[in-house]
Amino acid sequence: LHTFHSPVSTRYFLKVASLEELYAALERYQDLCKKEPDLPLLILGGGSNVVFSGDYRGLTIALGLKGIAVEHTTEEQVLLRVQAGEVWQDLVEYTLRHNWGGLENLSLIPGNVGTSPMQNIGAYGVEIKDVFERCTVLDLRTREIKTLTNSQCEFGYRESIFKRKAKGQYIILEVFFCLTRRNHPLKISYGAIASELEAMGVVTPTIQQVAQAVVRIRKSKLPDPNILGNAGSFFKNPTVESQVFSALAQQFPTIPSYPQPQGVKIPAGWLIEQCGWKGRRIGNVACHHLQALVLVNATGEATGEEIYAFSQEIINSVESKFGITLEREVNIITS
Ligand code: EPU
Repeated sequence: LHTFHSPVSTRYFLKVASLEELYAALERYQDLCKKEPDLPLLILGGGSNVVFSGDYRGLTIALGLKGIAVEHTTEEQVLLRVQAGEVWQDLVEYTLRHNWGGLENLSLIPGNVGTSPMQNIGAYGVEIKDVFERCTVLDLRTREIKTLTNSQCEFGYRESIFKRKAKGQYIILEVFFCLTRRNHPLKISYGAIASELEAMGVVTPTIQQVAQAVVRIRKSKLPDPNILGNAGSFFKNPTVESQVFSALAQQFPTIPSYPQPQGVKIPAGWLIEQCGWKGRRIGNVACHHLQALVLVNATGEATGEEIYAFSQEIINSVESKFGITLEREVNIITS
């Protein structure tokens, strides 16, 4: 149920396929809490961004709410209403079949729709916040259903209210996406998309061809979690102040950079590779040989503790060589 495939178990487990089942599961949780007052609760989506530090001693509820519906259309746009348990890539393929634009750059990202706003998933110059209109959530404190708009979700780079001040407060039930029906504004300037399209012999790309280019790039360097357990990028790309970057660039002239309004973003994969980690394995955990930002369960037996310890060694090396403290992007589940 989680893409790192480390061998962990949960004390209690329920899978829900409807709102009624979710309410029933929460009642069951309250009953369990009468006997075990500090029992933790985990809402699990696609499990593509989590590392378990050990067996989970609480109740895990897997959200299996399914459905994609058109909420509203105009000549130019379509508003899609998508249930949290839909698999992200199934949604992307559905929109491409209908020729609705906006999700093509986000092709092949593991995980479910319901967890996509949590870390504002992004790839190749697009983030979910660019197409996110609103979401429906269940407030665990009051059991009320609420709507959160794009601005209320306080999206940032791999950030949202769901990871910060509202952590653990809401269950995301459905997400509304605003997509284009024609005149799709393509984003192909990021990374290798343009050169991949050229290699495909494409001159005026369609959204389907952009998606195909993204899939080809991702498959060329990102391991398939079904074959080699991983959680995508393990760390965030750090942003440093301009003066800090200038000093680093003097010492390391080949350092790549992406200027931002608040400083300079540096690819963590480069920092990790420079510290000699790319392709390195300790015990059951390895740093991927094609993308240093991705840690993998090399033997299928890696425990969360080992993965965490390995990531800490990487943080320590990058800190001592560059003076930059990497922040983990994955959620570490400790209960
Ligand atoms: N690089 C290296 N060595 C490596 C990996 C990267 O030197 O082993 C340097 C290169 O300079 C390369 C640059 O890093 O040009 C950027 O690499 P890449 O295009 O692979 O992207 P990334 O910054 O490592 C981010 C996202 C990915 C997303 C890609 C493409 C984060 C934390 N990660 O990775 O998202 O797919 O851009 O847009 O922002 C994820 O979040 O799980 C994820 C895979």
